[in-house]
Amino acid sequence: MSMSVQLQNGTAVITGAASGIGLELAKQALELNMNLVLADIDSESLLRLKHDLHLTDAKSILQQTDVSDEKDIALLCEKAFQKFGSVELLCNNAGVSLNRLSWMHSHQDWEWLMNVNLFSVAHAIRYFVPRMLDQNSPAHIVNTASVAGLLSTPGMAAYNASKHSVVTLSETLYQELHTLKAPIGVSVLCPAWVPTQIHLAQRNRPDRFGSHQDPSDPLSMKYDDRMSSAVQSGKMTATQIAQEVFLAIQKQQFYIIPHRRINSLIEQRMQEILHLQNPKVSES
Ligand SMILES: NC(=O)c1ccc[n+]([C@@H]2O[C@H](COP(=O)([O-])OP(=O)(O)OC[C@H]3O[C@@H](n4cnc5c(N)ncnc54)[C@H](O)[C@@H]3O)[C@@H](O)[C@H]2O)c1
Repeated sequence: MSMSVQLQNGTAVITGAASGIGLELAKQALELNMNLVLADIDSESLLRLKHDLHLTDAKSILQQTDVSDEKDIALLCEKAFQKFGSVELLCNNAGVSLNRLSWMHSHQDWEWLMNVNLFSVAHAIRYFVPRMLDQNSPAHIVNTASVAGLLSTPGMAAYNASKHSVVTLSETLYQELHTLKAPIGVSVLCPAWVPTQIHLAQRNRPDRFGSHQDPSDPLSMKYDDRMSSAVQSGKMTATQIAQEVFLAIQKQQFYIIPHRRINSLIEQRMQEILHLQNPKVSES
């Protein structure tokens, strides 16, 4: 595929932009003087961000968006193209997490995780890709998965399932766009722990997915605590992750795995699959 996306002065759409990795992606895009279409369910934080980053109405849209709601994604897409005419970068980044034993996930827990982490990406692909194919400039899509999309850490069944799905969805999209020789690159971002607000994801749980229940059995509580402390002690910052993303876009690199130390775990899983060995049980 011969194409080189020109991000400078282009338009970036970023979901989950009000915090953590999404916020840092927005700052990187701003450094390239991109128009920013920033989406998040948390409208207060979006407003604060507008103020903090000195965003002007001429060069930005801040759109309260529930990415799990198809109507909101449709509107986001409409607004972005109406105002800026093209989208050079789409970052499907919003995501939520939940920690507990597999059989302690309620049906609504599953629906929340799968809708916000996976169906959001499917909606965005459905609405944005046809318009990006029609526009006259190359573009790039970055889907935020996780190392949880490559491994199967206990205590995170729905999160793991949603992120594995985002990885395979991204791989599929990459193949299809390549086959069409379309000038749209794809990357999938798979970080390990990064200090953000992800361990407090329940703060943004929409009502229609029911209310959050803290885990109550000892092992689920242990998994929950482990996640919180792992996130907060993450060695790579969200800024570094965002920088890696922009480098990868320049290089047209599909897999973005900033924490190289997890390579051995990915390899171990692949070996187990290839050699029909049972999964090694991680100590916790
Ligand atoms: N922090 C980590 O350790 C880590 C590791 C791997 C992957 N990730 C992934 O990175 C992405 C960003 O997470 P983060 O770590 O920056 O967390 P974060 O909680 O700091 O930011 C996530 C943002 O998504 C928004 N959001 C939540 N639900 C939403 C919804 N329904 N619609 C729109 N926006 C919504 C939140 O309001 C928040 O601003 C997620 O997809 C997460 O799964 C994070």
